[in-house]
Amino acid sequence: MSAERVLLVIGGGIAAYKCLDLIRRLREQGVAVRCVLTAAAKQLVSPLAVAALSGEKVFDELFSLTDEAEMGHIRLSREADLVVVAPATADLLAKMANGLADDLASTLLLATDKPVLVAPAMNPHMWAHPATRRNVERLRADGVAILGPAEGDTACGEVGAGRMVEPAELLRAILARLRPGPRPLQGLRALVTSGPTHEPIDPVRFVANRSSGRQGHAIAAALARAGAEVMLVSGPVTIPDPGGVRTVHVETAREMAEACLAALPVDLAVCAAAVADWRPETVPAQKIKKTPGGSPPTVRLVENPDILASLARHPTARPRLVVGFAAETGDLEAEARAKRAKKGCDWILANDVSEGTGVFGGTRNRILLITGEGPAEPWPELAKEAVAEKLVARIAEFFARRAS
Ligand code: CTP
Repeated sequence: MSAERVLLVIGGGIAAYKCLDLIRRLREQGVAVRCVLTAAAKQLVSPLAVAALSGEKVFDELFSLTDEAEMGHIRLSREADLVVVAPATADLLAKMANGLADDLASTLLLATDKPVLVAPAMNPHMWAHPATRRNVERLRADGVAILGPAEGDTACGEVGAGRMVEPAELLRAILARLRPGPRPLQGLRALVTSGPTHEPIDPVRFVANRSSGRQGHAIAAALARAGAEVMLVSGPVTIPDPGGVRTVHVETAREMAEACLAALPVDLAVCAAAVADWRPETVPAQKIKKTPGGSPPTVRLVENPDILASLARHPTARPRLVVGFAAETGDLEAEARAKRAKKGCDWILANDVSEGTGVFGGTRNRILLITGEGPAEPWPELAKEAVAEKLVARIAEFFARRAS
């Protein structure tokens, strides 16, 4: 599932600075934010700061040739899941209520087919003025959600209703609209491992595998969306940290094991990392050099700790549900059942990683779920994000059954 998208229209009020904090918080939650600044907003916040925080191009001109060539204003208004106007000035509210479209912000607001949430900010007298009252009533009748304004000191020195709500409150309102579904894993702590591990041979060389971390990261993100408090322990990957998840970066299997054990106690653990089974026994401090006429070096390997097994067999803090993966190239079901018994985990998601399946490093996965209850459950080939959603739904069922 791709990230939720917010189109944030920043109006020209002093409270525009609060939008920088809002953008940061939204991105922490994994929400993509595209920003549009009105001409007045550009006087109050720097488009450069907005672009840096949002990680996206900032739009401000209706008739900028490049903007129109790259992305028309209609598309810009439709690509978001939610349009947020903050701060919504008296002028912006008046334009919206009357359907005016004389700049990019007002044109987008007229062209959008998405829900709109506005956070007004203005002088208390402007807010109380009958014209603003009429405009707000009309916007409410049009289905626009109005959040605030809050009471208190305003930038102009007058006290009353007119302050923009704080970023934390705006964030809550936005997330409630973007993620209205139930949060079945609320209150549960989850640990996820993801990616490969790198096992050094010398200071410049290492043993690794083709894992991209996509499946583990998608699971961590899906667990967080379902309300769990998630700690992700990731080996070296090139994909970004998922939003709303605490990510710890490690290199080796031993570092991964240490980080996982330090995360206990947790309610559930999903081990999706492709942990290197072995590591070079000794790692010289200097780079191994070729000696003229000499034979190639021999690297002696020793076994790494088995993280999944050490969680599943933990003497005092075993998670209530321990889920592993089984990457196999032989008889999938038989190998996976044997692995489940050997490691002591509750569920195994078996996948065929034979050459040509493209699972390792790819974007799709075909799972055979073995829970130990009933027959193995073959899932169709799915995008790794969809596998994550399906697994999280099963995990939610498990905890719901336990609770009842
Ligand atoms: N795993 C782990 N720590 C290890 C090795 C594996 O936590 N040192 C976990 C993986 O994250 C996965 C499961 O164990 O959830 C199975 O991994 P896999 O590579 O399929 O199994 P191995 O234990 O490596 O067994 P084999 O290579 O013999 O198939």
